[in-house]
Amino acid sequence: MSMEATYSVFAAMDQPMHHSHRPEWQPGTPFNALPALPPIDEIETRAILKQCVKARAALAELKQAAELIPDQRILLSAFPMLEAQASSEIENIITTTAELFEHLSAEQRATPAVREALRYRSALLIGAAELQKRPMCTRLAEIVCSEIKGIDMQVRRTPGTTLRNDRTGDTIYTPPEGEQVLRDLLANWERFVNEPSELDPLVRMAISHYQFEAIHPFLDGNGRTGRVLNSLFLVSHGLIGQPVLYLSRAIIARKDEYYKRLLAVTARGEWIPWVEFMLECVESTASWTTNKIAAMRALQVNTGEFVRTKCPGVYSHELISLIFERPYLRIADLVEAGIAKRQTAATYVDRLTEIGVLEERTTGQTRLFVHVKLMKLLTHDSNEYIKYGS
Ligand SMILES: Nc1ncnc2c1ncn2[C@@H]1O[C@H](COP(=O)(O)OP(=O)(O)O)[C@@H](O)[C@H]1O
Ligand SMILES: [Mg+2]
Repeated sequence: MSMEATYSVFAAMDQPMHHSHRPEWQPGTPFNALPALPPIDEIETRAILKQCVKARAALAELKQAAELIPDQRILLSAFPMLEAQASSEIENIITTTAELFEHLSAEQRATPAVREALRYRSALLIGAAELQKRPMCTRLAEIVCSEIKGIDMQVRRTPGTTLRNDRTGDTIYTPPEGEQVLRDLLANWERFVNEPSELDPLVRMAISHYQFEAIHPFLDGNGRTGRVLNSLFLVSHGLIGQPVLYLSRAIIARKDEYYKRLLAVTARGEWIPWVEFMLECVESTASWTTNKIAAMRALQVNTGEFVRTKCPGVYSHELISLIFERPYLRIADLVEAGIAKRQTAATYVDRLTEIGVLEERTTGQTRLFVHVKLMKLLTHDSNEYIKYGS
């Protein structure tokens, strides 16, 4: 550590820096010389700090918007689901948000892809709960990865992991090998994530995400685990209260750049474009999520008023909350939530269907009711919707 401190002073005096101090690297050779954190380069340039301020402001707004929602379960149902869909799609696990909600409480008939994406959502929620017990650490990464993969995952013991280009099959990057090498690098990553630092937390999140991916500790699931850890990092630093930032939305929209910029850090020590990229992703998805929360809230108020006017005998605050928490609703969901017994619950959903709030979409034996306006909000960028009673 002391050596690195000496270097960074030297590097700061040596601007502008054209050399990167990065060790020799080759795509096909395990990168056991991956430098430990922190990076020796000066990262918080004026441009980075400016972008950081914007991202921090957007995130602070999101935190506040989320905290103002009386029913946190609605947020924890919607946003981790969107994040799960997008983050899994980055890894070519293709599902739709509708499918995920449809199978949320009945996974048996879901396709393997849907199950895997649903496990990502669980991993995010389990990971956030784990933060009560332990800090961000290697063990937490193992817990998250195990949940995502649905099998016990531990830091790699065997060589042979490579990252390849899907189309050409060419090797892009070969991560370090040897369990001890990986564990040492992870211990360094862990310290960097948890120790007090002068660096802005968002800059640290970006740096840690690169490092985690470069270490690539698992046989598979590294991308998704790393992206869950991004959310957990924000929660553990108090930048958001719950894992509701839909960060993978921005990453998948710029997926080629995500890969390119990760590689450029390894190949040429290009930290600044990487950090800038991540800050831009945070800013844009934080704003997107804040606006979406506001639209959902407005829809909830409108729906509540409409149901209360049209069928006062059916209305309850709990019922309205439930149809926002479960946009693919089963009669059993009402029973489980303690809203009504089965017979009465069935009449409630029928009434909500008659007045157009729900749409029946029964598959097989289970009657399924879709909250169409909410699904439209969740699956489209637009926050416009036709108000009930207008
Ligand atoms: N050049 C690179 N160096 C390090 N990590 C990379 C590089 N390019 C992509 N990645 C990361 O590797 C992930 C894919 O690794 P993988 O273990 O298959 O994860 P998953 O199973 O979640 O797809 C990508 O999502 C990305 O985060
Ligand atoms: Mg994979």
